Amino acid sequence: MTTFYLTTPIYYVNARPHLGHACTTIMADAMCRYHRLAGDRVYLLTGTDEHGERIAQVAAKAGKTPQAYADEIAGAFRETWRRLGITNDDFIRTTEPRHQKVVREILQRLFDAGEIYFGEYGGWYCYGCERFYTEKEIVDGKCPDHQTALTFIKEKNYFFKMSKYQQWLIQHLADNPGFIQPERYRNEVLGFLREPLQDLSISRPRSRVDWGIPLPFDDQYVTYVWFDALINYYSAVSDPDNPDTQGLWEHVEHLIGKDILKPHGVYWPTMLKAAGIPLYRRLNVHGYWSLGGSKMSKSIGNVVEAFQLTDKYGHDAFRYFLLREMAFGLDASFSEEALVDRLNADLANDLGNLVSRATTLLAASGPVARVTAPADAADREIWAAASEAKTAVAHEMEEFAFQKALAEIWRFIGAVNRYVDASAPWALAKDPAKRGRLERVLCTLADSLGFLGIMLDPFLPDAAQKIRAAVGWTDEPRLEAATVGRLGAVPAVSRVSGLFPRIDTRVPRPGGEQGRPGVRAGQAGEPGDGKPAEIPPGKIPITDFQKVELRVAEVLAAERVPKSKKLLKLTIRVGDESRTLVAGIAEHYEPGNLVGRKVVIVANLEPATLMGIESNGMVLAASHEGTVSLLTLDKDVPPGSRVK
Ligand code: MSP
Repeated sequence: MTTFYLTTPIYYVNARPHLGHACTTIMADAMCRYHRLAGDRVYLLTGTDEHGERIAQVAAKAGKTPQAYADEIAGAFRETWRRLGITNDDFIRTTEPRHQKVVREILQRLFDAGEIYFGEYGGWYCYGCERFYTEKEIVDGKCPDHQTALTFIKEKNYFFKMSKYQQWLIQHLADNPGFIQPERYRNEVLGFLREPLQDLSISRPRSRVDWGIPLPFDDQYVTYVWFDALINYYSAVSDPDNPDTQGLWEHVEHLIGKDILKPHGVYWPTMLKAAGIPLYRRLNVHGYWSLGGSKMSKSIGNVVEAFQLTDKYGHDAFRYFLLREMAFGLDASFSEEALVDRLNADLANDLGNLVSRATTLLAASGPVARVTAPADAADREIWAAASEAKTAVAHEMEEFAFQKALAEIWRFIGAVNRYVDASAPWALAKDPAKRGRLERVLCTLADSLGFLGIMLDPFLPDAAQKIRAAVGWTDEPRLEAATVGRLGAVPAVSRVSGLFPRIDTRVPRPGGEQGRPGVRAGQAGEPGDGKPAEIPPGKIPITDFQKVELRVAEVLAAERVPKSKKLLKLTIRVGDESRTLVAGIAEHYEPGNLVGRKVVIVANLEPATLMGIESNGMVLAASHEGTVSLLTLDKDVPPGSRVK
């Protein structure tokens, strides 16, 4: 049995999960689901990177200990992946003892072997990246990643003799062309290696940074965060008492974004080589999503909460967009409009239509125990298209080329849609003499749906499951069962409609202006499809409602506004942010009773100044005959949660 062990980067806990993190994790999940379909032994690892100066700083700013802060954000990552349906087998945190133990063992091993020495180094340091930059890498005197000024730091530290491995790594890349893919990133690493490789400072003095793993041979120093973090991939699977992780390491592949190529392409292989640990099998590097032209990164402040759009359009649609829109290795641009276009064209139109049409026909005709009519050229074309798609998907998935794999599946969907049009089963059904042909067409359709129910599983897990259920498939999906042409019967099929509701982008607005995308119930291809929805008088389109951002907020402090009978000044927390809001509830609530309560606010109201205080938002309350009642929640959800 083939073993496939895949890792995502472990994400820093200084920011909540966002679209960029979701992209890598979804890609990893799709890849692992594909390997599971193939019957491989699969292990998917993700986790959080919790040490270092940056984390200590944000925790201090939030008034928390680094550990408490890390616990909170690690929890948010875990929860995000659970909600997105990520099938990770483990979630590692660098503050866990199981990890720290392995880091210290490796450090000691390298120290004993003379691979680590004590020395002094002065260089340009980026606090954001927590690393030194060489003169060549610096752009306009700034960090190329964060575009912030660098600081010259000179200090005594422990160094790993990385320079010693420069020639070895160049040779390894020459001997193993597929070690880093796509090729552009292999070339980029070879580019780094054209310059003399420096030794790597692997410690930070405790006097400057205290939040880290103490060096086993000098407790005045903690481990450099990258040296600590990279080892997670190994520490997670190196417990000799855990049977689930035995024999995985030799098969490990990493998936990362291009921002962390150097640590993974240079530091990590040299560290492994020096420690006598087998190298990873392959490093797979994807490009970066940009949003409105600028890079999406927590430090640049342009962060997207992954959930805002997954909740709005559904996990499958969001996942599909990320996988379909980004050519693996290249950058891509994210926009809600592009997502809606994909959803409408590929999911609602091509796939949703096919599933709706085919299941409607199949459900209406009922099962056929034995199809005797022979297949004709059109059927054989579908069989061949399925087999070609399957082979092509296997080839593309080998290189993490999700976008190409999906294009192949969509080519098949297009072929089946054309087959339905050309064979016109609704016309065949009217002529009893054509019963045999009708049965064969239905058989090919049911077969094609079964095929899609398997092939789509890595990319659209929920929709694929629904398709399989519609054709009565209850077994675990397996690639070996994904064939078209074997079926000699038509199973009982239940109708599936509205697999992907079409998003109407043409809702008429007052004044005739184009609307923002909004969900309109109904399946593409059904009567009325494509026509602007009519809005009855007195009603608003859902797109208008969606403009109002309602969120849960926690009251941190409350006080009366001086000289006002009605107003309270509230300090509230919404997600990571705290803000001031003025509420007209002073006659109904004692300030002290509000602290710690969770309320619902309109979060995107333009600021207003009341009695000289700027209010950012509005608290929601019901009122009836002089009674005012604040909207509260009947289950605990974190501040910042969206209310819809
Ligand atoms: N903690 C380090 C990784 C240590 S791994 C041993 C780190 N963490 S991070 O939180 O900054 O995550 C970086 C990774 O998040 C990227 O490599 C990529 O996988 C993902 N992305 C973050 N922003 C992204 C985009 N805008 N676009 C695509 N992926 C992005 O670096």
